[in-house]
Amino acid sequence: MAELPAVHVTTDAVGDLDVDALIVPVFRGAIEGPGTDVALRALGLDDVPRQHDFRGKLGEILHLAAPGQPWGRVTLVGLGRLDALSDETLRRAAGSAVRSVLATAQTAATTLTLVEGSTDATRAVAEGAMLGAYRYDDTRSDPQPRTLTDVTLVVASSLADRAGAAVARAGIHARAQCVARDIVTAPPNRLGPVEFADLAVELLGDDVEVEVWDEQRLADEGCGGHLAVGRGSARPPRLVRLRYAPADPVATVSLVGKGITFDTGGISLKRPSSIMDNMKGDLGGAAAVLGAFTALAELHVPVEVRGELCLAENMPGADAQRPSDVIRIRGGTTVEVMNTDAEGRLVMADALALSAEDDEVDAIVDVATLTGAAFRAIGKRASAVFANDDDLLRQLLTAGDAAGESIWHLPLWEDLRDNLESDVADLDNLGRGDEAGATMAALFLREFVDGTPWAHLDIAGPFWQDEDRYHLPRHGTGVPVRTLLRWLEAAGDHSG
Ligand code: BES
Ligand code: MN
Ligand code: ZN
Repeated sequence: MAELPAVHVTTDAVGDLDVDALIVPVFRGAIEGPGTDVALRALGLDDVPRQHDFRGKLGEILHLAAPGQPWGRVTLVGLGRLDALSDETLRRAAGSAVRSVLATAQTAATTLTLVEGSTDATRAVAEGAMLGAYRYDDTRSDPQPRTLTDVTLVVASSLADRAGAAVARAGIHARAQCVARDIVTAPPNRLGPVEFADLAVELLGDDVEVEVWDEQRLADEGCGGHLAVGRGSARPPRLVRLRYAPADPVATVSLVGKGITFDTGGISLKRPSSIMDNMKGDLGGAAAVLGAFTALAELHVPVEVRGELCLAENMPGADAQRPSDVIRIRGGTTVEVMNTDAEGRLVMADALALSAEDDEVDAIVDVATLTGAAFRAIGKRASAVFANDDDLLRQLLTAGDAAGESIWHLPLWEDLRDNLESDVADLDNLGRGDEAGATMAALFLREFVDGTPWAHLDIAGPFWQDEDRYHLPRHGTGVPVRTLLRWLEAAGDHSG
Protein backbone atom coordinates (compact mmCIF):
# COMPACT_ATOMS: atom_id res chain seq x y z
CA MET A 1 0.00 0.00 0.00
CA ALA A 2 1.06 3.54 -0.65
CA GLU A 3 2.55 5.37 2.32
CA LEU A 4 0.37 7.92 4.05
CA PRO A 5 2.01 11.01 5.53
CA ALA A 6 2.84 11.03 9.23
CA VAL A 7 0.58 13.28 11.30
CA HIS A 8 1.99 15.17 14.29
CA VAL A 9 0.55 17.48 16.91
CA THR A 10 2.09 20.74 18.07
CA THR A 11 1.20 23.57 20.43
CA ASP A 12 3.86 25.84 18.93
CA ALA A 13 2.87 29.25 17.65
CA VAL A 14 1.91 29.14 13.99
CA GLY A 15 4.51 31.78 13.21
CA ASP A 16 7.23 29.39 14.36
CA LEU A 17 6.28 26.55 12.02
CA ASP A 18 8.73 25.95 9.24
CA VAL A 19 6.60 24.12 6.65
CA ASP A 20 6.11 24.20 2.90
CA ALA A 21 2.38 24.80 3.19
CA LEU A 22 0.26 26.21 5.98
CA ILE A 23 -3.35 25.09 5.54
CA VAL A 24 -5.79 27.68 6.90
CA PRO A 25 -9.59 27.31 7.03
CA VAL A 26 -12.01 29.93 5.79
CA PHE A 27 -15.74 29.84 6.32
CA ARG A 28 -18.21 30.40 3.51
CA GLY A 29 -18.59 34.05 2.60
CA ALA A 30 -14.84 34.26 3.10
CA ILE A 31 -15.39 35.13 6.74
CA GLU A 32 -12.70 34.57 9.24
CA GLY A 33 -13.00 32.14 12.07
CA PRO A 34 -10.84 30.50 14.67
CA GLY A 35 -7.73 29.22 12.99
CA THR A 36 -7.81 31.85 10.25
CA ASP A 37 -6.87 35.08 11.98
CA VAL A 38 -3.36 34.12 13.00
CA ALA A 39 -2.21 33.39 9.47
CA LEU A 40 -3.88 36.44 8.01
CA ARG A 41 -2.27 38.73 10.54
CA ALA A 42 1.10 37.30 9.78
CA LEU A 43 0.52 37.84 6.08
CA GLY A 44 -0.38 41.45 6.74
CA LEU A 45 -3.90 40.91 5.46
CA ASP A 46 -6.89 42.41 7.24
CA ASP A 47 -9.26 39.80 6.01
CA VAL A 48 -9.51 36.88 3.70
CA PRO A 49 -8.70 37.87 0.13
CA ARG A 50 -11.99 38.37 -1.64
CA GLN A 51 -11.78 36.74 -5.00
CA HIS A 52 -14.67 35.91 -7.21
CA ASP A 53 -13.42 32.35 -7.46
CA PHE A 54 -12.84 31.72 -3.76
CA ARG A 55 -15.85 31.86 -1.50
CA GLY A 56 -15.00 29.46 1.26
CA LYS A 57 -17.22 26.74 -0.13
CA LEU A 58 -16.46 23.43 1.55
CA GLY A 59 -13.27 21.99 0.11
CA GLU A 60 -12.48 25.01 -2.06
CA ILE A 61 -8.76 25.77 -2.31
CA LEU A 62 -6.71 28.95 -2.82
CA HIS A 63 -2.92 28.90 -2.67
CA LEU A 64 -1.25 32.19 -1.62
CA ALA A 65 2.39 33.15 -1.59
CA ALA A 66 3.68 34.02 1.89
CA PRO A 67 6.70 36.27 1.45
CA GLY A 68 8.69 36.90 4.59
CA GLN A 69 6.99 34.06 6.43
CA PRO A 70 8.43 30.74 7.55
CA TRP A 71 5.84 28.90 5.43
CA GLY A 72 6.45 28.33 1.76
CA ARG A 73 2.85 29.26 1.10
CA VAL A 74 -0.57 29.53 2.66
CA THR A 75 -3.27 27.21 1.37
CA LEU A 76 -6.72 28.50 2.19
CA VAL A 77 -9.37 25.80 2.40
CA GLY A 78 -13.10 26.48 2.43
CA LEU A 79 -14.95 25.13 5.43
CA GLY A 80 -18.49 25.83 4.28
CA ARG A 81 -21.08 27.62 6.32
CA LEU A 82 -20.28 28.31 9.94
CA ASP A 83 -23.70 27.06 11.05
CA ALA A 84 -23.11 23.76 9.25
CA LEU A 85 -19.76 23.13 10.92
CA SER A 86 -19.31 19.54 12.09
CA ASP A 87 -16.59 16.97 12.55
CA GLU A 88 -17.41 15.77 9.05
CA THR A 89 -16.94 19.20 7.44
CA LEU A 90 -13.56 19.41 9.17
CA ARG A 91 -12.69 15.92 7.93
CA ARG A 92 -13.70 16.89 4.40
CA ALA A 93 -11.85 20.19 4.38
CA ALA A 94 -8.71 18.47 5.67
CA GLY A 95 -9.00 15.87 2.92
CA SER A 96 -9.35 18.40 0.12
CA ALA A 97 -6.55 20.59 1.47
CA VAL A 98 -4.07 17.78 1.87
CA ARG A 99 -4.80 16.41 -1.58
CA SER A 100 -4.14 19.87 -3.02
CA VAL A 101 -0.59 19.93 -1.63
CA LEU A 102 0.18 16.22 -2.04
CA ALA A 103 2.57 16.61 -4.94
CA THR A 104 3.94 20.09 -4.25
CA ALA A 105 4.81 20.19 -0.55
CA GLN A 106 6.89 17.93 1.63
CA THR A 107 5.64 19.32 4.91
CA ALA A 108 2.33 20.92 5.77
CA ALA A 109 0.73 22.25 8.93
CA THR A 110 -2.85 23.23 9.56
CA THR A 111 -4.89 25.36 11.91
CA LEU A 112 -8.08 23.44 11.06
CA THR A 113 -7.63 21.91 14.50
CA LEU A 114 -8.11 25.31 16.15
CA VAL A 115 -11.63 25.72 14.77
CA GLU A 116 -13.25 23.34 17.22
CA GLY A 117 -10.94 22.51 20.09
CA SER A 118 -12.11 19.00 20.92
CA THR A 119 -10.51 15.58 20.66
CA ASP A 120 -13.28 14.42 18.29
CA ALA A 121 -12.61 17.34 15.96
CA THR A 122 -8.86 16.73 16.16
CA ARG A 123 -9.42 13.12 15.27
CA ALA A 124 -11.63 14.10 12.33
CA VAL A 125 -9.01 16.49 10.93
CA ALA A 126 -6.33 13.83 11.28
CA GLU A 127 -8.53 11.25 9.54
CA GLY A 128 -9.32 13.65 6.73
CA ALA A 129 -5.67 14.57 6.28
CA MET A 130 -4.52 10.96 6.01
CA LEU A 131 -7.44 9.74 3.93
CA GLY A 132 -7.05 12.68 1.54
CA ALA A 133 -3.41 11.81 0.99
CA TYR A 134 -4.25 8.39 -0.40
CA ARG A 135 -3.78 7.62 -4.05
CA TYR A 136 -3.88 4.27 -5.74
CA ASP A 137 -0.70 3.60 -7.64
CA ASP A 138 0.04 -0.07 -7.10
CA THR A 139 -0.04 -0.76 -10.81
CA ARG A 140 1.75 2.20 -12.38
CA SER A 141 5.27 1.57 -13.62
CA ASP A 142 5.99 5.24 -13.00
CA PRO A 143 3.96 6.38 -9.96
CA GLN A 144 2.76 9.97 -9.96
CA PRO A 145 4.90 12.25 -7.81
CA ARG A 146 3.90 12.44 -4.18
CA THR A 147 6.07 14.59 -1.97
CA LEU A 148 4.07 15.10 1.20
CA THR A 149 5.56 13.23 4.15
CA ASP A 150 4.48 15.16 7.24
CA VAL A 151 1.36 17.00 8.37
CA THR A 152 1.37 18.92 11.63
CA LEU A 153 -1.83 19.78 13.45
CA VAL A 154 -1.74 22.94 15.54
CA VAL A 155 -3.76 22.40 18.71
CA ALA A 156 -4.59 24.48 21.75
CA SER A 157 -2.37 23.72 24.71
CA SER A 158 -5.41 22.55 26.71
CA LEU A 159 -5.72 19.68 24.24
CA ALA A 160 -2.07 18.79 23.94
CA ASP A 161 -2.21 15.66 26.10
CA ARG A 162 -5.27 14.09 24.54
CA ALA A 163 -4.65 15.09 20.93
CA GLY A 164 -1.84 12.57 20.48
CA ALA A 165 -4.06 9.62 21.29
CA ALA A 166 -6.82 10.94 19.03
CA VAL A 167 -4.39 11.28 16.14
CA ALA A 168 -3.02 7.78 16.74
CA ARG A 169 -6.52 6.33 16.54
CA ALA A 170 -7.24 8.35 13.40
CA GLY A 171 -4.13 6.90 11.78
CA ILE A 172 -5.15 3.33 12.56
CA HIS A 173 -8.63 3.89 11.11
CA ALA A 174 -7.30 5.66 8.01
CA ARG A 175 -4.76 2.97 7.22
CA ALA A 176 -7.41 0.27 7.63
CA GLN A 177 -9.68 2.13 5.23
CA CYS A 178 -6.86 2.43 2.69
CA VAL A 179 -6.33 -1.34 2.81
CA ALA A 180 -9.93 -1.68 1.64
CA ARG A 181 -9.42 0.99 -1.04
CA ASP A 182 -6.42 -0.83 -2.49
CA ILE A 183 -8.43 -4.05 -2.71
CA VAL A 184 -11.48 -2.45 -4.33
CA THR A 185 -9.40 -0.60 -6.91
CA ALA A 186 -7.00 -3.48 -7.65
CA PRO A 187 -7.49 -4.91 -11.16
CA PRO A 188 -9.46 -8.16 -11.23
CA ASN A 189 -6.87 -10.07 -13.26
CA ARG A 190 -4.46 -9.58 -10.37
CA LEU A 191 -6.88 -10.12 -7.52
CA GLY A 192 -9.00 -13.23 -7.85
CA PRO A 193 -10.29 -15.30 -4.91
CA VAL A 194 -7.00 -17.13 -4.35
CA GLU A 195 -4.93 -13.94 -4.50
CA PHE A 196 -7.36 -12.21 -2.11
CA ALA A 197 -7.05 -15.09 0.34
CA ASP A 198 -3.24 -14.92 0.10
CA LEU A 199 -3.40 -11.19 0.73
CA ALA A 200 -5.46 -11.74 3.88
CA VAL A 201 -2.83 -14.13 5.19
CA GLU A 202 -0.09 -11.65 4.31
CA LEU A 203 -1.76 -8.60 5.87
CA LEU A 204 -2.92 -10.07 9.15
CA GLY A 205 -0.37 -10.55 11.87
CA ASP A 206 -0.27 -12.98 14.76
CA ASP A 207 -3.25 -11.36 16.44
CA VAL A 208 -5.70 -12.78 13.91
CA GLU A 209 -6.14 -16.46 13.06
CA VAL A 210 -6.73 -17.05 9.37
CA GLU A 211 -8.22 -20.21 7.93
CA VAL A 212 -8.80 -20.61 4.19
CA TRP A 213 -11.41 -23.03 2.87
CA ASP A 214 -10.80 -24.19 -0.68
CA GLU A 215 -13.44 -25.63 -3.00
CA GLN A 216 -13.00 -29.14 -1.60
CA ARG A 217 -13.53 -27.93 1.95
CA LEU A 218 -16.52 -25.82 0.87
CA ALA A 219 -18.04 -28.96 -0.66
CA ASP A 220 -17.32 -31.03 2.47
CA GLU A 221 -18.98 -28.35 4.57
CA GLY A 222 -22.10 -28.15 2.43
CA CYS A 223 -21.53 -24.59 1.20
CA GLY A 224 -23.54 -25.02 -1.98
CA GLY A 225 -24.31 -21.36 -2.57
CA HIS A 226 -20.68 -20.30 -2.54
CA LEU A 227 -19.66 -23.18 -4.82
CA ALA A 228 -22.49 -22.54 -7.27
CA VAL A 229 -21.35 -18.98 -7.83
CA GLY A 230 -17.69 -19.93 -8.12
CA ARG A 231 -18.06 -22.74 -10.65
CA GLY A 232 -18.47 -20.47 -13.67
CA SER A 233 -14.91 -19.25 -13.27
CA ALA A 234 -11.60 -20.99 -13.98
CA ARG A 235 -10.41 -19.41 -10.73
CA PRO A 236 -11.74 -21.38 -7.76
CA PRO A 237 -13.68 -19.79 -4.88
CA ARG A 238 -12.34 -19.38 -1.36
CA LEU A 239 -13.88 -18.74 2.04
CA VAL A 240 -11.47 -16.92 4.35
CA ARG A 241 -12.34 -17.33 8.01
CA LEU A 242 -10.81 -14.83 10.43
CA ARG A 243 -10.75 -14.78 14.20
CA TYR A 244 -9.54 -12.05 16.50
CA ALA A 245 -9.87 -13.15 20.12
CA PRO A 246 -8.79 -10.72 22.86
CA ALA A 247 -8.58 -11.91 26.47
CA ASP A 248 -11.96 -11.77 28.26
CA PRO A 249 -14.03 -10.50 25.35
CA VAL A 250 -17.27 -8.72 26.27
CA ALA A 251 -19.11 -10.27 23.30
CA THR A 252 -18.54 -12.14 20.05
CA VAL A 253 -19.58 -10.77 16.69
CA SER A 254 -19.28 -12.04 13.14
CA LEU A 255 -18.56 -9.83 10.13
CA VAL A 256 -19.51 -11.33 6.78
CA GLY A 257 -18.25 -9.70 3.58
CA LYS A 258 -19.33 -10.23 -0.01
CA GLY A 259 -16.17 -10.76 -2.02
CA ILE A 260 -17.03 -11.16 -5.69
CA THR A 261 -13.68 -10.37 -7.31
CA PHE A 262 -15.50 -9.63 -10.56
CA ASP A 263 -19.21 -9.75 -11.30
CA THR A 264 -20.11 -10.34 -14.94
CA GLY A 265 -23.57 -11.47 -13.88
CA GLY A 266 -22.73 -15.05 -14.89
CA ILE A 267 -25.05 -16.64 -17.48
CA SER A 268 -27.56 -13.89 -16.66
CA LEU A 269 -24.90 -11.60 -18.13
CA LYS A 270 -25.04 -7.93 -17.24
CA ARG A 271 -26.41 -5.80 -20.06
CA PRO A 272 -25.33 -3.36 -21.23
CA SER A 273 -21.74 -4.39 -20.59
CA SER A 274 -20.96 -0.84 -19.44
CA ILE A 275 -22.64 -1.66 -16.11
CA MET A 276 -19.76 -4.08 -15.52
CA ASP A 277 -17.32 -1.17 -15.43
CA ASN A 278 -16.75 -1.04 -11.70
CA MET A 279 -17.63 -4.67 -10.94
CA LYS A 280 -14.02 -5.35 -9.95
CA GLY A 281 -15.17 -3.58 -6.80
CA ASP A 282 -17.88 -6.16 -6.07
CA LEU A 283 -15.60 -7.39 -3.30
CA GLY A 284 -16.05 -4.12 -1.40
CA GLY A 285 -17.78 -5.82 1.53
CA ALA A 286 -14.98 -8.36 2.01
CA ALA A 287 -12.40 -5.60 1.51
CA ALA A 288 -14.01 -3.56 4.30
CA VAL A 289 -14.08 -6.54 6.64
CA LEU A 290 -10.42 -7.35 5.95
CA GLY A 291 -9.47 -3.68 6.31
CA ALA A 292 -11.20 -3.56 9.69
CA PHE A 293 -9.41 -6.73 10.83
CA THR A 294 -6.01 -5.15 10.18
CA ALA A 295 -6.82 -2.61 12.93
CA LEU A 296 -8.50 -4.64 15.69
CA ALA A 297 -5.45 -5.53 17.77
CA GLU A 298 -3.93 -2.06 17.57
CA LEU A 299 -7.21 -0.55 18.72
CA HIS A 300 -7.54 -3.08 21.56
CA VAL A 301 -11.09 -3.85 20.46
CA PRO A 302 -12.74 -5.55 23.45
CA VAL A 303 -14.91 -8.02 21.53
CA GLU A 304 -14.09 -11.26 19.83
CA VAL A 305 -14.53 -10.72 16.09
CA ARG A 306 -15.02 -13.42 13.50
CA GLY A 307 -14.72 -12.62 9.82
CA GLU A 308 -16.04 -14.49 6.80
CA LEU A 309 -14.74 -13.33 3.43
CA CYS A 310 -16.91 -14.91 0.72
CA LEU A 311 -14.60 -14.89 -2.29
CA ALA A 312 -15.61 -15.98 -5.78
CA GLU A 313 -15.55 -14.73 -9.35
CA ASN A 314 -18.97 -14.63 -11.07
CA MET A 315 -18.22 -15.70 -14.63
CA PRO A 316 -20.27 -17.39 -17.38
CA GLY A 317 -17.80 -20.25 -17.92
CA ALA A 318 -18.61 -23.67 -19.36
CA ASP A 319 -19.46 -25.10 -15.96
CA ALA A 320 -21.38 -22.03 -14.76
CA GLN A 321 -24.63 -22.44 -12.91
CA ARG A 322 -27.74 -21.96 -15.04
CA PRO A 323 -30.83 -19.90 -14.33
CA SER A 324 -33.34 -22.37 -12.81
CA ASP A 325 -30.67 -24.59 -11.20
CA VAL A 326 -31.56 -25.64 -7.68
CA ILE A 327 -28.74 -25.50 -5.15
CA ARG A 328 -28.45 -26.36 -1.46
CA ILE A 329 -27.17 -23.87 1.09
CA ARG A 330 -25.36 -24.98 4.26
CA GLY A 331 -28.04 -26.02 6.72
CA GLY A 332 -30.24 -27.54 4.00
CA THR A 333 -32.28 -24.71 2.52
CA THR A 334 -32.73 -25.21 -1.23
CA VAL A 335 -32.68 -22.26 -3.60
CA GLU A 336 -33.84 -21.97 -7.17
CA VAL A 337 -31.38 -19.68 -8.94
CA MET A 338 -33.64 -17.59 -11.12
CA ASN A 339 -30.93 -15.06 -11.93
CA THR A 340 -27.20 -15.78 -11.70
CA ASP A 341 -26.53 -12.04 -11.32
CA ALA A 342 -28.13 -12.16 -7.87
CA GLU A 343 -24.99 -14.01 -6.73
CA GLY A 344 -24.03 -12.01 -3.66
CA ARG A 345 -26.88 -13.41 -1.59
CA LEU A 346 -25.83 -16.94 -2.63
CA VAL A 347 -22.18 -16.67 -1.59
CA MET A 348 -23.16 -15.01 1.66
CA ALA A 349 -25.95 -17.41 2.60
CA ASP A 350 -23.50 -20.17 3.54
CA ALA A 351 -21.34 -17.83 5.62
CA LEU A 352 -24.36 -16.38 7.40
CA ALA A 353 -25.50 -19.92 8.20
CA LEU A 354 -22.03 -20.78 9.50
CA SER A 355 -22.05 -17.69 11.74
CA ALA A 356 -25.57 -18.34 12.99
CA GLU A 357 -24.96 -21.96 13.89
CA ASP A 358 -22.15 -20.92 16.23
CA ASP A 359 -23.71 -20.38 19.67
CA GLU A 360 -20.94 -18.02 20.70
CA VAL A 361 -21.87 -15.44 18.08
CA ASP A 362 -24.00 -12.68 19.63
CA ALA A 363 -24.46 -10.57 16.52
CA ILE A 364 -23.82 -10.75 12.79
CA VAL A 365 -23.12 -7.77 10.55
CA ASP A 366 -22.75 -8.35 6.82
CA VAL A 367 -21.38 -5.87 4.31
CA ALA A 368 -22.09 -6.22 0.61
CA THR A 369 -22.23 -4.41 -2.71
CA LEU A 370 -25.52 -6.19 -3.06
CA THR A 371 -28.08 -4.32 -5.16
CA GLY A 372 -28.34 -1.49 -7.65
CA ALA A 373 -31.74 -0.94 -6.08
CA ALA A 374 -30.07 0.30 -2.89
CA PHE A 375 -28.44 3.29 -4.57
CA ARG A 376 -31.40 3.94 -6.81
CA ALA A 377 -33.45 4.34 -3.63
CA ILE A 378 -31.08 6.45 -1.52
CA GLY A 379 -28.27 7.63 -3.81
CA LYS A 380 -24.62 6.72 -4.04
CA ARG A 381 -23.39 8.58 -0.97
CA ALA A 382 -24.99 6.39 1.68
CA SER A 383 -25.11 2.75 2.70
CA ALA A 384 -28.47 1.15 3.28
CA VAL A 385 -28.92 -0.78 6.51
CA PHE A 386 -31.43 -3.51 7.27
CA ALA A 387 -31.67 -5.20 10.65
CA ASN A 388 -33.71 -7.67 12.65
CA ASP A 389 -32.61 -6.07 15.92
CA ASP A 390 -33.23 -2.47 17.00
CA ASP A 391 -30.26 -2.18 19.37
CA LEU A 392 -27.81 -3.36 16.75
CA LEU A 393 -29.39 -1.02 14.22
CA ARG A 394 -29.02 1.94 16.55
CA GLN A 395 -25.42 1.09 17.32
CA LEU A 396 -24.53 1.01 13.63
CA LEU A 397 -26.34 4.27 12.88
CA THR A 398 -24.48 5.92 15.75
CA ALA A 399 -21.14 4.53 14.58
CA GLY A 400 -21.79 5.70 11.02
CA ASP A 401 -22.64 9.16 12.27
CA ALA A 402 -19.42 9.40 14.27
CA ALA A 403 -17.40 8.18 11.29
CA GLY A 404 -19.10 10.57 8.86
CA GLU A 405 -20.26 7.60 6.75
CA SER A 406 -23.95 8.06 5.97
CA ILE A 407 -26.21 5.10 6.62
CA TRP A 408 -29.95 5.02 5.98
CA HIS A 409 -32.36 2.50 7.44
CA LEU A 410 -34.55 0.63 4.95
CA PRO A 411 -37.39 -1.76 5.82
CA LEU A 412 -37.62 -5.55 5.89
CA TRP A 413 -41.32 -5.66 4.93
CA GLU A 414 -42.81 -8.94 6.13
CA ASP A 415 -45.46 -8.56 3.45
CA LEU A 416 -42.85 -9.10 0.74
CA ARG A 417 -41.49 -12.33 2.21
CA ASP A 418 -43.96 -14.34 0.08
CA ASN A 419 -42.23 -13.08 -3.04
CA LEU A 420 -39.21 -15.23 -2.17
CA GLU A 421 -41.23 -18.41 -2.64
CA SER A 422 -40.27 -20.74 -5.46
CA ASP A 423 -42.39 -23.39 -7.19
CA VAL A 424 -39.67 -26.01 -6.95
CA ALA A 425 -37.38 -25.06 -4.04
CA ASP A 426 -37.55 -23.49 -0.58
CA LEU A 427 -36.55 -20.08 -1.92
CA ASP A 428 -36.11 -18.17 -5.17
CA ASN A 429 -32.93 -16.05 -5.27
CA LEU A 430 -34.52 -13.30 -7.32
CA GLY A 431 -37.91 -12.86 -5.78
CA ARG A 432 -41.11 -12.46 -7.76
CA GLY A 433 -41.92 -8.93 -8.88
CA ASP A 434 -39.36 -6.27 -9.56
CA GLU A 435 -40.10 -3.99 -6.64
CA ALA A 436 -38.00 -3.24 -3.54
CA GLY A 437 -34.86 -4.97 -4.84
CA ALA A 438 -32.69 -4.04 -1.87
CA THR A 439 -35.32 -5.24 0.59
CA MET A 440 -35.83 -8.52 -1.29
CA ALA A 441 -32.09 -9.22 -1.13
CA ALA A 442 -32.07 -8.42 2.59
CA LEU A 443 -35.09 -10.65 3.23
CA PHE A 444 -33.28 -13.45 1.42
CA LEU A 445 -30.20 -13.04 3.63
CA ARG A 446 -32.33 -12.96 6.76
CA GLU A 447 -33.47 -16.52 6.02
CA PHE A 448 -30.01 -17.76 7.01
CA VAL A 449 -29.31 -15.97 10.30
CA ASP A 450 -31.68 -18.14 12.33
CA GLY A 451 -32.88 -15.31 14.55
CA THR A 452 -29.39 -14.15 15.59
CA PRO A 453 -29.29 -10.34 15.92
CA TRP A 454 -28.18 -9.29 12.46
CA ALA A 455 -27.68 -6.21 10.35
CA HIS A 456 -26.95 -5.96 6.65
CA LEU A 457 -25.15 -3.01 5.08
CA ASP A 458 -25.76 -2.65 1.35
CA ILE A 459 -22.82 -0.53 0.12
CA ALA A 460 -23.59 -0.71 -3.61
CA GLY A 461 -23.65 3.11 -3.67
CA PRO A 462 -20.71 4.35 -1.62
CA PHE A 463 -18.11 1.62 -2.27
CA TRP A 464 -17.03 3.50 -5.41
CA GLN A 465 -16.98 7.01 -6.81
CA ASP A 466 -15.80 8.33 -10.14
CA GLU A 467 -14.16 11.56 -8.92
CA ASP A 468 -12.06 12.62 -5.93
CA ARG A 469 -14.35 14.11 -3.32
CA TYR A 470 -12.94 15.61 -0.12
CA HIS A 471 -11.13 12.85 1.79
CA LEU A 472 -12.53 10.12 -0.44
CA PRO A 473 -10.53 9.32 -3.57
CA ARG A 474 -11.90 8.37 -6.93
CA HIS A 475 -12.57 4.63 -7.32
CA GLY A 476 -12.54 2.43 -4.21
CA THR A 477 -13.54 4.56 -1.21
CA GLY A 478 -12.99 2.04 1.59
CA VAL A 479 -16.47 2.72 2.99
CA PRO A 480 -17.60 1.57 5.62
CA VAL A 481 -14.37 0.50 7.36
CA ARG A 482 -14.43 3.34 9.89
CA THR A 483 -18.07 2.68 10.77
CA LEU A 484 -17.25 -0.95 11.55
CA LEU A 485 -14.28 0.09 13.66
CA ARG A 486 -16.21 2.75 15.57
CA TRP A 487 -18.93 0.20 16.25
CA LEU A 488 -16.46 -2.42 17.47
CA GLU A 489 -14.55 0.08 19.62
CA ALA A 490 -17.81 1.10 21.27
CA ALA A 491 -18.94 -2.49 21.77
CA GLY A 492 -17.48 -2.51 25.26
CA ASP A 493 -19.94 0.25 26.16
CA HIS A 494 -22.97 -1.54 24.69
CA SER A 495 -22.60 -4.83 26.48
CA GLY A 496 -23.22 -5.51 30.13
N1 BES B 1 -22.97 -6.56 -7.60
C1 BES B 1 -24.29 -6.33 -8.07
C2 BES B 1 -24.94 -5.09 -7.45
C3 BES B 1 -24.31 -3.79 -7.78
C4 BES B 1 -24.67 -3.09 -8.91
C5 BES B 1 -23.37 -3.25 -6.94
C6 BES B 1 -24.07 -1.88 -9.19
C7 BES B 1 -22.77 -2.04 -7.22
C8 BES B 1 -23.13 -1.35 -8.34
C9 BES B 1 -25.17 -7.52 -7.73
O1 BES B 1 -24.53 -8.75 -7.75
C10 BES B 1 -26.24 -7.57 -8.74
O2 BES B 1 -25.96 -7.84 -9.86
N2 BES B 1 -27.46 -7.28 -8.30
C11 BES B 1 -28.57 -7.27 -9.18
C12 BES B 1 -29.66 -8.04 -8.49
C13 BES B 1 -30.78 -8.44 -9.39
C14 BES B 1 -30.33 -9.43 -10.41
C15 BES B 1 -31.89 -9.02 -8.53
C16 BES B 1 -28.98 -5.82 -9.39
O3 BES B 1 -28.81 -5.00 -8.50
O4 BES B 1 -29.42 -5.51 -10.50
MN1 MN C 1 -24.50 -9.63 -9.65
ZN1 ZN D 1 -22.52 -8.73 -7.39
